[in-house]
Amino acid sequence: MKKIFINIGAIAGADLTPSKRKVGAEMERFDVVKDAWLIVNGERIEAYGSGQPTIEAGMEVIDCHGQWLFPSFCDSHTHIVYAGNRAGEFLDKINGLSYEEIGRRGGGILNSADLLHNTSEDELYRQAMERVDEVIAKGTGAIEIKSGYGLTVEDELKMLRVIRRIKQSVRAEVKSTFLGAHAVGRAYAGRQAEYVEYVCREMIPEVGRQQLADYVDVFCDAGYFTVEETERICNAAAQWGMRPKIHANELDVSGGVQVGVKCGALSVDHLERSTPTDFEALRGSDTMPTLLPGASFFLCMPFADGKTMIQSGLGIALASDYNPGSSPSGDMRFVASMGCIRMKLTPQQALNAATLNGAYAMDLSDEVGSITPGKLANFYLTAPLPSLEYFLYAYATPLIKAVYLKGEKC
Ligand code: NIG
Ligand code: FE
Repeated sequence: MKKIFINIGAIAGADLTPSKRKVGAEMERFDVVKDAWLIVNGERIEAYGSGQPTIEAGMEVIDCHGQWLFPSFCDSHTHIVYAGNRAGEFLDKINGLSYEEIGRRGGGILNSADLLHNTSEDELYRQAMERVDEVIAKGTGAIEIKSGYGLTVEDELKMLRVIRRIKQSVRAEVKSTFLGAHAVGRAYAGRQAEYVEYVCREMIPEVGRQQLADYVDVFCDAGYFTVEETERICNAAAQWGMRPKIHANELDVSGGVQVGVKCGALSVDHLERSTPTDFEALRGSDTMPTLLPGASFFLCMPFADGKTMIQSGLGIALASDYNPGSSPSGDMRFVASMGCIRMKLTPQQALNAATLNGAYAMDLSDEVGSITPGKLANFYLTAPLPSLEYFLYAYATPLIKAVYLKGEKC
């Protein structure tokens, strides 16, 4: 059955000639079609236009009364499956401890691993689904979810099974990433090289055999995993068809960008401490630099220099990094607003980064990321807006009124 949405105040992010990603000056184009209509056929967008539409017999008509229509956010970096929370560390941070200090004291990621170990798979799924439902209501229509709070074969598989169950139960697109090298598991304390062996020889083959992950990730940073270890893990995962998405340059200039590009990474993420050498390494590559302003905000770190990356011809994606330690929020509109406020991106650049380029960073840009005939009908409707910039300016006003995924209202 076809649906026709009429009296749309404007379609934002309309794209008749889609590209896989937008780079450099292209990021300024986020086309707005005023006084619009849009036809959905089953799960997909069939057509859109402006002016008076032709309404065929049998179409379901949805009168939007001037609401605006945007492509769903594509959140390409989250750790949304975790147990409980780390609100205690929030207090530690207020009292002056840094993220690294909390980690060195045995808190941080290992704290979440302990909690996850003591939580049943059903309960973990229930807690994660609460967050997934929350971000869907906030406009996210495609999401990548990482493991990395297991740190043993059994618990990593448990997390990845929860991600698979989420994939099967929501209308949003879901991609899963194996992040066994998020921290050295407690049983291997002081034996990092042996832990890396364990990741490569035991975790990756089991994850691969059970086809539980689309991608592989490594926390390549000061105090975590080295460039050499990262390359070894990426090579082991490549044998199972998992492309890398690397955590790089969050805590220090880590070499993670270069090893990511060398290993054909789909994305390198964080990049708060990047240098012009890192931008140079990305030029001409297929790797999407993905910036996570939520982590900079929450940890009071520098913001990645997205503006310079775009000026030097690169494309960038924005993602939430939703996780209990460095970004306990998956609100992609707030992420895009922070892109504007703290990285000086234009609203058009921020919205492209949070939609099409995020889709690219999940290898989903043929399916989602723009309002394009043939793509999945994943979009949301907002209150009537005075302008495109108003949507990111009024960042805390609840403007999103309805969400459609694969053509159905959620
Ligand atoms: O992307 N940096 C590594 N991983 C997460 C934080 C995970 C945690 O603290 O639980 C991040 O910021
Ligand atoms: Fe992360």
